[in-house]
Formats: sequence, C-alpha cells, structure tokens
Amino acid sequence: MILVTGVSGGLGSLIMDGLSGLADVEVLGGSRSAGGDGAAVRRVDFDDPASLPAAFEGVDVLLVVSAGYAEDDVVLARHGAVADAAVRAGVKHLIYTSLAASGESMTIALPHRWSEERFAAGPYTTTVLRNGLYFEVPVSLATAGAATAAATGVFAAPFGEGRISVVAREDLADAAVRVAAESDRDLAAGRPSRHAGRIYELEGDTAVGGADIAALLADALGREVVYRPASLGETRAGLATSGLEPYQVGHAVSLFANVIAGRAEAAGSDLPALLGTAPRPLRSAVAAAVAADAATPAAR
Ligand SMILES: NC(=O)c1ccc[n+]([C@@H]2O[C@H](COP(=O)([O-])OP(=O)(O)OC[C@H]3O[C@@H](n4cnc5c(N)ncnc54)[C@H](OP(=O)(O)O)[C@@H]3O)[C@@H](O)[C@H]2O)c1
Repeated sequence: MILVTGVSGGLGSLIMDGLSGLADVEVLGGSRSAGGDGAAVRRVDFDDPASLPAAFEGVDVLLVVSAGYAEDDVVLARHGAVADAAVRAGVKHLIYTSLAASGESMTIALPHRWSEERFAAGPYTTTVLRNGLYFEVPVSLATAGAATAAATGVFAAPFGEGRISVVAREDLADAAVRVAAESDRDLAAGRPSRHAGRIYELEGDTAVGGADIAALLADALGREVVYRPASLGETRAGLATSGLEPYQVGHAVSLFANVIAGRAEAAGSDLPALLGTAPRPLRSAVAAAVAADAATPAAR
C-alpha cells in the first residue's frame, strides 16, 4: 500500500489523482485536515510526531511531499519525525520530493539535502525525486510587474542576465506516480523497488530570464516593454514590506542571487527518461498565464 502526504497541496493532489487511477495499486492520502479510521485520507501532520507511526501503519511505500513552508528548524523537525515514524511503522520504501541541482546554492537546499541524508539512514530503502522549480515562479514575477510594465514600458526584476529553469508540477507528479507505483508493485512481488537508492534530477527544460518575461509582457500588453535588472537590495526592501514571512524573504533573495550568478539553469534532467516522453512545453503556458493576468483590470 502507498501513502502520499500533503494531498491537499498542489503536488500531492496531482500525485494522488494519478495513483488513484491505477487499478493495481492501493493508495491512501495523508493530510493535516483529514481524520477518521479507514478513510481514504488519513490524518498526517508532521508537526504532531506522536500521531505519525499509527498514520503510517500498514504502509509499504511512503511518498513524502516536503513540508517546506516554515523556518529551517521547523522543517528539519518535521522530516526527522517522519523518518522516525517510518521506522516504527515498518515502512519498506520511502520516496522524498526534494530540490533539483539547479537549486543547490539556494538557501532552500539546506533542509532538502539534510532530509535526503536523514531518510537515507533507513532501514527502509529510499528514492529521492529532486524537483525543479515550478513554472509559477517566473509567472508570479511577471504578474507582479504587469501593471508597472503597462504604465511605464519597463519590467524590473532581480534576474541580472541570468535565467531560471522551470518545470510543470504535472510532470513532477507523473514521475512520482510512476516511481511510487513501480515500487509498490516490486514490493508486492517480493523484490526491492527498482528505484531503491536512486536520486532523480527532475529539472525542467525551459529556462526563463528577465528579457524573456519582458517580451511575454510586451505581447500580452500590446506595447513595448524593456527589461531592467533590479538590485537585490531594492528587491529585499520591497519583499520585506510585502507581507511575506521573514524566512521567505531570505529564501527569495537567495533564489534571485542564484539567478543573477547564473547558477539557476539546469545542466541536465532525468525527467524525460522517467516520463518516457518530453516534458510539457512551458513557454506557451508561461505566456498564457502572463496574458491572462495582463487582461485583468489591475494590470491595465
Ligand atoms: N519546486 C518548487 O518550485 C517548490 C516551490 C514551493 C514549494 N516547494 C516544496 O514542494 C512542496 C510541495 O509543493 P506544493 O506545490 O504541493 O505546495 P502546496 O500546494 O503549498 O502544498 C504543500 C502541502 O504540504 C503539506 N504540509 C504542510 N505542512 C505540513 C505538516 N506539518 N505536515 C504534513 N504535511 C504538511 C500540506 O498538505 P496538507 O494540507 O494536505 O496537510 C500542504 O498542502 C512544498 O511543501 C514545498 O516544500 C517546491
């Protein structure tokens, strides 16, 4: 049996949908908001460690969607509690959704790499799905800058001359479904998961820079838009008053610093091999999202 955590979230819900459509695997969801014995979704809250061993009972394959929206010490405690509970519950194979190599120098990498090592201690076998950054990252920058671009013809962003590789959650979910289902089938047949010990780099093959976003905005707004690199200092000051948590400001500035430094572009990806096909084309999806936002009154 497979249990997927975080199934009310964007990635977990897609994975759950994919696994639920397979006739030969038994799958349960895990969510902080669920409860009740025998329900298709069990209550799984990493912040409640004492409840986790029972929540993981009978689970052969545990697919842990990272619970990363918190300070690092909180994330480490969450994932450490999952590792301990998985041992106590007798989980056989644990799959963890981590961060791709293009994020290696970003501050968000620390809790991911720590978690990879923590889970690798077993005794269950593991697979690490190192997920690339979602394509919503540049889209949200574009939409945030749309109104100013419409008024001034300038799109300012802290990208320098760098670009960031992005990926669709749907592709990441499809890869996770394959790994979880094949692992479950292997265990049911009495053999180890064919994905045991593997670390997959699931990078997107689309890289987006500031000039790319300015061009998309120009198309969407029907006017000339030029890209102006913004400084990290002005970006940090703006984020600090944007309503983000302080730790989120730090992570965002670190991400932008990596883009400026040219370290946020993927060198290669295991995604096509795991999907058995090319990743979803994203440039048109980014363009559509930017155009949809630019059509709203606030952006005009
Ligand atoms: N690759 C990227 O670009 C990127 C960007 C942002 C975040 N991430 C990471 O990828 C993860 C999945 O992304 P997503 O798009 O699915 O994010 P999301 O839509 O925000 O969902 C995250 C889910 O994490 C679960 N969660 C949060 N706190 C938890 C806790 N204490 N115990 C158990 N589960 C908890 C929640 O599931 P329930 O509500 O069902 O409990 C939540 O819905 C994020 O949590 C984050 O760590 C990656």
